[in-house]
Amino acid sequence: MELPDSESVCLFPQAGVQHQSCLHTLQTLNQRRGISSWLARWFPKTPAKSVVALKTPIKVELVAGKTYRWCVCGRSKQQPFCDGSHFFQRTGLSPLKFKAQETRVVALCTCKATQKPPYCDGTHRSERVQKADVGSLL
Ligand code: FES
Repeated sequence: MELPDSESVCLFPQAGVQHQSCLHTLQTLNQRRGISSWLARWFPKTPAKSVVALKTPIKVELVAGKTYRWCVCGRSKQQPFCDGSHFFQRTGLSPLKFKAQETRVVALCTCKATQKPPYCDGTHRSERVQKADVGSLL
């Protein structure tokens, strides 16, 4: 059996639609497939896990009313804040955006194991975190 060449493929033969329209439809479908594979590559459905950035918190002065983006993935080079690494390393994770209620110095978590993100809750002292290597998964 011989396969039809691209010019003889018609998606709507009974409707009397011209072949040119069929080719356009096929091209559009192929473009959508290309976009969806691109989206899947940049926005994976299963997010990566956070890695240990550091094993001690970082003290920072938060300014009342200012919005901050705390690094969730642990890959930022500007800990404890986001530098966009979660996106460029295709982690599927997003930073935690929060607004400071008052101006004060706080300890922000860098081990990414805290139960009270973005603040340090002392979890970094646990054996689990202390035994982990910087840059590794917990
Ligand atoms: S640095 Fe993560 S809990 Fe203290």
